[in-house]
Parts: sequence; structure tokens; C-alpha cells
Amino acid sequence: MNVADGSMTRRDFVKGAAGVTAVAALTGVGGTMAWNRATQPEDPSDAWSTATGIDRILLAATLAPSSHNTQPWRFRTNPEGIDLLGDTDRTMGRADPRLRELHVSLGCALENAAIAAAAAGTPVVIEQVPDAPDGHFATLRFAAETEGDGANAELATAIPRRRTNRGPFDERVVAPASLAALGALCNENVRVVWLTDPEARARFTDLSVKATEAHIADTELQLDSHRWYRMSQSDAEEYRDGITVRGANLPVVISLFMELFPPTPDSFDAGWAKATRTTHCGTAPVFGLLIGENAGDKSEWVNVGRTYERMQLAATMKGLSMHPISQALAIRDREVSTGSAGPFSAGLAELGGAGEVALAFRLGYPTREQQPSMRRQPTLVKAS
Ligand SMILES: Cc1cc2nc3c(=O)[nH]c(=O)nc-3n(C[C@H](O)[C@H](O)[C@H](O)COP(=O)(O)O)c2cc1C
Repeated sequence: MNVADGSMTRRDFVKGAAGVTAVAALTGVGGTMAWNRATQPEDPSDAWSTATGIDRILLAATLAPSSHNTQPWRFRTNPEGIDLLGDTDRTMGRADPRLRELHVSLGCALENAAIAAAAAGTPVVIEQVPDAPDGHFATLRFAAETEGDGANAELATAIPRRRTNRGPFDERVVAPASLAALGALCNENVRVVWLTDPEARARFTDLSVKATEAHIADTELQLDSHRWYRMSQSDAEEYRDGITVRGANLPVVISLFMELFPPTPDSFDAGWAKATRTTHCGTAPVFGLLIGENAGDKSEWVNVGRTYERMQLAATMKGLSMHPISQALAIRDREVSTGSAGPFSAGLAELGGAGEVALAFRLGYPTREQQPSMRRQPTLVKAS
């Protein structure tokens, strides 16, 4: 194995997989592997430069974005490949009643893992598994060994650098050619609608601001959402997941003040509502809507996640940042799950057209660097 560039042969992968399986057997179902310091992604770039073999694929998967940084994934390895499983203990509860965000997050992890494997010379075939009772939703099956895959090798370099950037974007427009290049990355049954003109952007902003207010007024949504808030730095470091003060990417002085005097979840939400209007929507030159052809189809949500992640890596390579803005979709899902067609279902359908909006995000050039967010060790499930 070439440790310097992380490339490996299929045999290395298989050896790694066997090793991991052995550790999983030792730690038992749901146990975690003996993850070394380098793979504790306090600084993901550090971890990325040293992780090899199967560790590198699992690290790539865990560095994916997930709603509220829930990291709702588990892994099962064997010599032929890696199974990816969802973790229903790590969902957003009533704030994600259809499990749309769970499946989009899982798609992001799947894409990162596949890119990392292909980049290292072990391409994988992705097999989606519908409705498995244990949460198994996809398998990465190792395919024939190659010399490495140029396009994926380039994208893989963005895996440790990709961030959800919540700071202000600058005034530059995103060139139509860049939007077209990102749009060409859509997976099967997924399309993107770009909202570039001021009127469409104003409509999305209005929906998002109203949805944020509705979210804050809904006690059930708030309870399940606050479960993932880590308002003190010590909680953030202990849990290594969730919504954190640092993640809000506020000006340094405010961020330091809030680290010294952690906000309550309610006061943090007041800042979130304001930032949605002013910073997030107010500075966005373009919004993207990722649309699945068939409303409610879980494997399409996974494909939306795969598309989002591939787009975000490609955007990172171009110096662009992406940031999901999910409030309107969360309230739309609440409408759908309670059987009442309401203003958020109608508003999103008008903006997105046929199919169903499965993820919405803003895209632009960042003005403030975003710190990496916390990650947990990967949870390994014993082979059945
Ligand atoms: C399905 C999905 C929905 C998300 N929705 C939001 C959102 O509404 N607002 C937001 O600030 N971040 C959102 N995110 C970004 C996550 O909060 C972010 O990925 C996580 O905190 C980890 O941070 P990172 O992406 O910088 O690694 C979403 C991510 C996913 C995958």
C-alpha cells in the first residue's frame, strides 16, 4: 500500500475489511472500532492524510453532512464490501416525520464512501436495498481493481475540506456555466432547479422565514430539534455531533462570547430566525432545489443526498459554498404527514414544479471561513 497518497489494492481493502470485522466481533453489535487519533476528525484534513484502507472509506462516509449533524449511520464490513445502515436512534423525530432528512443524509455518506473508494483505486458498485428491517439501505460492493479514478480522485480531495458554510456570502453571482456543471451531476430521478432571479429568491426567502417562525412556535418540533443542540463547547466535545455555537459561523467576538456564556436553545433560535432572513437568505445569490421525481420515495431521497454531496464537493473545488435551508421543507413534511395540504406544500411545489423538493440549499462565495464540525467514531455492526 502507498500510505502517502492513500492508494491501495483490492487485497489491502479486503485485509482491512477483515480486520475491522474482527474488531467489530470483539466489540459486539453496535460497538465502535479502535479508531486511532488520526481518525478522530478534530481536524479532518489531518485525519484524511493518514487514514488508509477501509478506515479511509469509513472516515469519508462519516465526514458527510447530515441534518443537525446527527450522523445517523452505521456500517457492516465483510471481505466483499461495506453495508451502510441507517440509525433510527439518531433521527430528528417529529422534526423529520417522513425520514426524508435521514435518507438524504445517508445518501451523502454513501456518495462520500463511494468516491473515496474509487479515488483510491477500488471502485465500488452501489447496490441500494429497499426497506430492510435493520436499516440496511445500501451496499458498496468492491469491484475490479483499477489504477485510480481521476475524476473521483479530484473530488476526494474536497472531502475533508467540505463544510456547510453559514456565514455571509459575497455579492458575486454564480456563473451560469458553473450552475450547468453542477446540474450535470444529478443522479437518476433527481433534477435541480436554480432560483437566480430576484422574484424567485424573494419567494423562497419568504417561505423560509415564515417556516422558521412556524418551527419556533411548534413545541413538538422544537423539543425534537433541541435534542441535538450542543450549546456549550464541552457538550459539543463530549457528544461530537449536533448543532453548535461554532457551527453558526458568527463573527469571532460574538462566537467567543457565546462560548463563554452559552445561549439557551430558545435564544439561539432567535438568532437563527434573524440569520435566516439577513445572512442566509439575504446574502444568497442563488438557491438550489433538488427534486425527486416520486414524492416520498426513500431510495430517491438517498439519490438526492448522493447528488447533493457530489455537487458540494465539486462546488468546494471551485471555491463555492453550499448550505441547506430546510425549514420550509420541514414544515411541508409536517403538513404532508398530518394530511393537510398547506401553504408550504403549495409554495415549494410552485417553485420546484413536477415532483417533490427533497432538499433546498443556498450557493455562493463565502466571506468567512467555516470551522470543521464534530464527528463521532463510526459505529460498526456485527456481520449477521
Ligand atoms: C438533509 C440535510 C438537511 C440539512 N438542513 C440544514 C439546515 O436547514 N440548516 C443548516 O444550517 N444546515 C443544514 N444541514 C447541514 C448540517 O447541519 C451539517 O451538514 C452538519 O451540521 C455537519 O456540518 P458540515 O456539513 O459542515 O460537516 C443539513 C444537512 C443535511 C444533509
